[in-house]
Amino acid sequence: MDNQQPARQKDNHFSSADRHGLYKTIFNRRDVRGQFKNEPVSDAVLSRILLAAHHAPSVGFMQPWDFIVVTDPEVKSAVRAGFLQARAREAELFQGERQELYHRLKLEGIMDAPVNLCVTCDRDRTGSVVLGRTNDMAMDLYSSVCAVQNLWLAARAEGLGVGWVSIINPDVLRSALGIPRAIVPIAYLCLGYVTHFLEQPELQTANWLSRLPLEHLIHGNQWGCKEDPSCSTLKDHIQQVSEHALKGTFLDAIDV
Ligand SMILES: Cc1cc2nc3c(=O)[nH]c(=O)nc-3n(C[C@H](O)[C@H](O)[C@H](O)COP(=O)(O)O)c2cc1C
Repeated sequence: MDNQQPARQKDNHFSSADRHGLYKTIFNRRDVRGQFKNEPVSDAVLSRILLAAHHAPSVGFMQPWDFIVVTDPEVKSAVRAGFLQARAREAELFQGERQELYHRLKLEGIMDAPVNLCVTCDRDRTGSVVLGRTNDMAMDLYSSVCAVQNLWLAARAEGLGVGWVSIINPDVLRSALGIPRAIVPIAYLCLGYVTHFLEQPELQTANWLSRLPLEHLIHGNQWGCKEDPSCSTLKDHIQQVSEHALKGTFLDAIDV
């Protein structure tokens, strides 16, 4: 009987250093648009971050993702042309100072980054019925996004910057990359070594938007119950860790 039990993880414990490493990766990840260096990314490193992406959770374990590795400048140029078109259209949706600020923002590093990656979602990968997707067909799309986040964090731990370019029409992306109609482009990412990582999100530094206070986003048991006593202690703790995060002392405080 015993030998029919599923194998358990052997290295089950996360040391304090392990936890530091994980949180450090999460807090030090940035969306990178402008600091890419012209330094190649080895296949050894690329293979590790792609493997991290491939170990993301997915609905019904369908693993709907594929990864297009783009290094050809002509292909990148075609994508960048699509970005420029989409950015011009998006800029029209803002007015006045907001529009001027939009024009000043750098919102991609397609040509500067040595590697571009497109993460896709094959909605038919395991057939039309998928365990867990029946009530919400978007679950496979979310799964591919989980792969993107794994990749983004693994890249940061490897010292690589990643920037997500969503300002492009999916059909333009399909055409530039030869993606079939049935496959959904999820993320177009620019990836490479960087001169430095910025401390704060660029959109915050540029006064576009700033990080919301986490405690304002917590509801107790029912939507809208933000003052529910069931989560008042939790909110006190959230305020404390948020203050540490602001001061840059979060990592010193996690061993409490
Ligand atoms: C789905 C998604 C799409 C995004 N698209 C773009 C984009 O087209 N251009 C851009 O400059 N940043 C893009 N970003 C990056 C966000 O602006 C960035 O994550 C946010 O400002 C917070 O900054 P941080 O990632 O450095 O913490 C995107 C991020 C996500 C998750």
